[in-house]
Amino acid sequence: MSSDINAGLEGVIVGQTVLSNVEGEIGRLTYRGEPIEKLVERDFAAVVAWLMTGEWLSSDACNELDQWLAGEAELGAIETRVLEQLARDTHPMTVLQALMPLHSDQPHQPAPAWLDEHWVSGLVLAARLNAAVRVWHNLGTEGTVFALPAGLGFLEKLLYGINRSAPSPEALQALNTTQILQLDHSYNAGTFAGRVVASTQARLAASLAGSLGALSGPLHGGADEAAVMMALEIGSADKADAWVRDAMDKKIKIMGMGHREYKALDPRAAILKPMARKFCAGTEWEGLMETLVAVEDSCQAVFADKGKEIYANLEFYKGAVYLALGIPERYFTALFAASRVFGWVSHFQEFNQDPRLIRPRAEYVGP
Ligand code: COA
Repeated sequence: MSSDINAGLEGVIVGQTVLSNVEGEIGRLTYRGEPIEKLVERDFAAVVAWLMTGEWLSSDACNELDQWLAGEAELGAIETRVLEQLARDTHPMTVLQALMPLHSDQPHQPAPAWLDEHWVSGLVLAARLNAAVRVWHNLGTEGTVFALPAGLGFLEKLLYGINRSAPSPEALQALNTTQILQLDHSYNAGTFAGRVVASTQARLAASLAGSLGALSGPLHGGADEAAVMMALEIGSADKADAWVRDAMDKKIKIMGMGHREYKALDPRAAILKPMARKFCAGTEWEGLMETLVAVEDSCQAVFADKGKEIYANLEFYKGAVYLALGIPERYFTALFAASRVFGWVSHFQEFNQDPRLIRPRAEYVGP
């Protein structure tokens, strides 16, 4: 292979963004300059609007946006019929990706008057994706879609729909935090995939479908589900060290550990770990949480012996929080997408301010 090939694009700068900044060396993440630690104190709808427009909404406008998004988090008759025909064990990420191009043709309610027109279609698609997560969960687990009370907030509707009961304020707060943490992350694989599709002048729904495909992989969003499956397979904290050492010997990657950009602790993991501990304490997930902590400790010890540092990423403890919120592991990555879709929409709009076809080269090595 020629020495100037960079298959993973490590360190290659392919564009500019004002949306988020990952400072991997110091473990800092900001959206439009605001640190993630401050952003998680806000409401999800407020942070969505901040990411998209760079403005903080008044409390009334934030409620209005939240209620409108909640109203749009419904599927049309055609989309529902499509879902009803699918095999019940279809993975939620497959469902979200397959359904995305269909959402764009559905009508929507009038958006808040102050909302700039060019954001409306993206927000509708993002809300529909959230509806698809809820509806597929209902169909996939119970075979029917549950009716919900009117007036629920956007995230409340998602959690209520999955658990079929009103979420506690603490549960809602936890979901608010996890979803804010996942909104955007610079040019990660899913976001970059969306930008590549956008660069062909394809429509927004096609770009989002591309991003969904990239996010589904275990080296990206799929690591959340994989980390929890690993902890369940290990079984208990006392077995973690032997399992990790064996996995390392066999060159098996520990899901939820390591990051292309962060060479210090992922600031999102720093927020999630204590939250996961609190939420899992006294629940059936407490043992799983202890196993995850033991896996992290053991991974760090093994890497320290090799003179390397490796930290847990966002995905590692997120699954424990989701489980404690009643979200089954198969839906973790879909919940990730339910948040990240707002980031993808923001990148699509940003990309189209200065578009250019993305078309790299390959070195031909064939006959
Ligand atoms: N488990 C075991 N070893 C790991 C590891 C992990 N999770 N992450 C990195 N390493 C090791 C690699 O084996 C490699 O070792 P080597 O130098 O002896 O070959 C070294 O650390 C560098 O890893 P590499 O995979 O080349 O770095 P990258 O920048 O391509 O990796 C990830 C980034 C995210 C793909 C990688 O850390 C990984 O696969 N993590 C698990 C999946 C995951 O959690 N993804 C979600 C990311 S938010």
